[in-house]
Amino acid sequence: MRDWTLRLVLCALLGAACATCPPRCECSEAAHTVKCVGKDLRSVPSGIPGYTRNLFITGNQISRIGPESFKGLDNVTNLSLSNNRISEVESHTFSGLRSLRSLDLSNNQLAVIHPEAFSVQNQTLRELNLSRALYNYSSVSDLATSLRWSSLGSLRGLDLSHNSLVLLPPRLFSRLSGLRRLQLSNASLAALPNSSLAGLERLEELDLSLNALRTLSAEGLRELDSLPPQAALRLGGNPFACACGAEAFAAWLNGSRGRVRDAEGLACAFPAAMRNASVLAAAGALTPGCRRRAAGADLALQTSYVFLGVVLGFVGLVFLFVLYLNRKGIKKRVYDLRDACREVWEGYHYRFEADSDPRLSQVSTSADA
Ligand SMILES: *[C@@H]1O[C@H](CO)[C@@H](O)[C@H](O)[C@H]1NC(C)=O
Ligand SMILES: *[C@@H]1O[C@H](CO)[C@@H](O)[C@H](O)[C@H]1NC(C)=O
Ligand SMILES: *[C@@H]1O[C@H](CO)[C@@H](O)[C@H](O)[C@H]1NC(C)=O
Ligand SMILES: *[C@@H]1O[C@H](CO)[C@@H](O)[C@H](O)[C@H]1NC(C)=O
Ligand SMILES: *[C@@H]1O[C@H](CO)[C@@H](O)[C@H](O)[C@H]1NC(C)=O
Ligand SMILES: *[C@@H]1O[C@H](CO)[C@@H](O)[C@H](O)[C@H]1NC(C)=O
Ligand SMILES: *[C@@H]1O[C@H](CO)[C@@H](O)[C@H](O)[C@H]1NC(C)=O
Ligand SMILES: *[C@@H]1O[C@H](CO)[C@@H](O)[C@H](O)[C@H]1NC(C)=O
Ligand SMILES: *[C@@H]1O[C@H](CO)[C@@H](O)[C@H](O)[C@H]1NC(C)=O
Repeated sequence: MRDWTLRLVLCALLGAACATCPPRCECSEAAHTVKCVGKDLRSVPSGIPGYTRNLFITGNQISRIGPESFKGLDNVTNLSLSNNRISEVESHTFSGLRSLRSLDLSNNQLAVIHPEAFSVQNQTLRELNLSRALYNYSSVSDLATSLRWSSLGSLRGLDLSHNSLVLLPPRLFSRLSGLRRLQLSNASLAALPNSSLAGLERLEELDLSLNALRTLSAEGLRELDSLPPQAALRLGGNPFACACGAEAFAAWLNGSRGRVRDAEGLACAFPAAMRNASVLAAAGALTPGCRRRAAGADLALQTSYVFLGVVLGFVGLVFLFVLYLNRKGIKKRVYDLRDACREVWEGYHYRFEADSDPRLSQVSTSADA
């Protein structure tokens, strides 16, 4: 360590011409490369020489990085920080790296990503590797904010594979209009909701393999169709269901063989009887089969209406028959009712006439007096 300090003092005296190398790192001026690999470093070392273009600080124990981590490194174009334990990336961490083109943060544990974490001056960043980098699903909204706020319009490649993204937030990639390659494999995706792929105007490759897609709904198919027509898609290793309900997807797949590069290899996972069958082959049988089944369902419905009509008709007939058998009793009861009505009516009529006779009321009043 004293050796290092001495060297630093000497260099300060001699000026920028003096090339140094941080402890526990290997520096090659000829190759413009500095490597600090698997050395248990807790932070980004200081004193990285200015000639460095390729900087590898991988397999260490770094947990936090911020703007002070990378100063005076104007020439760094490739930076790899993979296999650390980075959990927090501050805003403008990489802003000082004015030539940065490729940033590898794969295999970390990012839990807190500040809004402008990936901002780089002059929009020089071309490749961003965040494979297996997110700590858990809660980091996805941070990621979405930083992708929108970091001015990444010139980004060409983004690797988000092996993260538990679950559900892509709407317009996650809307500011990445220059993106050519997007890796979303093994990201626990079960659907592609509206606007999840919006804004990818120049996409050439999209990898959706090893996700949890059982089928693609009309919404998901619309998202895929919104991509540029030349974009190549990969869908292998998803647990596709080859059952009725998947006809639209099957028909789309049959018509998209040119775009879905692994279309021939897609295999059914459900139902059990169809496991490992080719989705494309199953699609041929699916469509007429499901149509017949839908037609069968219609026929069954019609049959049940006819049956209901017959039952109701029979009940009606039984009712009429019972009425017919009881016709005498019913007739008697109707006559009784008529007689009862007549008696009530006549009684009422009589009372009314009595009440309305003035003489009678006079008699009653004089009697009271
Ligand atoms: C970057 O590289 C150029 C040319 O190799 C060199 O002149 C310059 O000093 C370097 N920058 C730093 C900060 O060392
Ligand atoms: C630097 O990154 C570019 C991609 O931007 C890549 O083609 C090149 O091989 C990388 N160089 C090194 C030394 O890793
Ligand atoms: C980056 O931008 C600065 C001004 O912010 C400018 O001086 C510099 O020349 C630019 N560098 C490149 C490589 O475009
Ligand atoms: C990202 O990093 C992982 C592991 O470090 C690597 O396997 C993968 O190829 C990288 N992605 C790209 C697009 O280079
Ligand atoms: C993600 O990790 C953080 C920190 O440990 C925790 O608070 C949060 O609940 C986790 N989120 C999920 C979805 O597991
Ligand atoms: C998928 O990603 C998880 C981490 O999210 C990892 O543990 C698993 O090995 C990956 N699976 C494959 C097939 O790469
Ligand atoms: C998705 O978009 C379609 C048409 O644009 C709309 O009918 C549907 O309701 C939307 N779905 C959701 C979940 O917003
Ligand atoms: C499905 O195919 C794979 C290889 O393609 C094989 O390993 C597996 O045993 C097959 N499963 C069934 C149920 O046939
Ligand atoms: C698949 O597409 C071809 C034309 O490319 C068509 O002839 C065939 O009928 C389609 N199959 C199904 C099941 O839709």
